[in-house]
Amino acid sequence: MSIERTLSIVKPDGVQKNIIGKIFTRFEDNGLKIVGTKMLTLSKEQAQKFYEVHKERPFYDDLVEYMTSGPVVVSVLEGEGAVLKNRQLMGATDPKEAEKGTIRADFADSKARNCVHGSDSLENAKIEVKFFFPNL
Ligand code: CDP
Ligand code: MG
Repeated sequence: MSIERTLSIVKPDGVQKNIIGKIFTRFEDNGLKIVGTKMLTLSKEQAQKFYEVHKERPFYDDLVEYMTSGPVVVSVLEGEGAVLKNRQLMGATDPKEAEKGTIRADFADSKARNCVHGSDSLENAKIEVKFFFPNL
């Protein structure tokens, strides 16, 4: 493994629940450094583009609606094996299937409203970091 960068998003439900700090603490306590972060509200166009891979999926329109429903916090995390480490800290997409002690198991309400996004591969991490932080 080597030092990687990955994109994290605290989704609208995470911001609404006032747990940005709790989520950041998990990154920091597990060797992931926040090297860029900002709060913003995604436009419909941004959310559609970001989740373009899911365009044909039945949940796509709801996902775009949810991701634009309030502010999000997008961050770049850096550390040893950051892509996989972040995915492990997040837990499975469906909080009911997520391992105990993961962000989604501890805080998320449903498969749709699951508090966090994390890049799923190094290749996608590079694309997603560039999407929100073109200068990083
Ligand atoms: O976020 P993750 O990579 O774990 O899951 P994904 O399969 O890439 O799906 C992206 C997002 O779409 C999920 O995090 C959910 O918010 C949403 N989703 C959904 O609403 N219903 C599903 N059956 C699958 C995903
Ligand atoms: Mg995904």
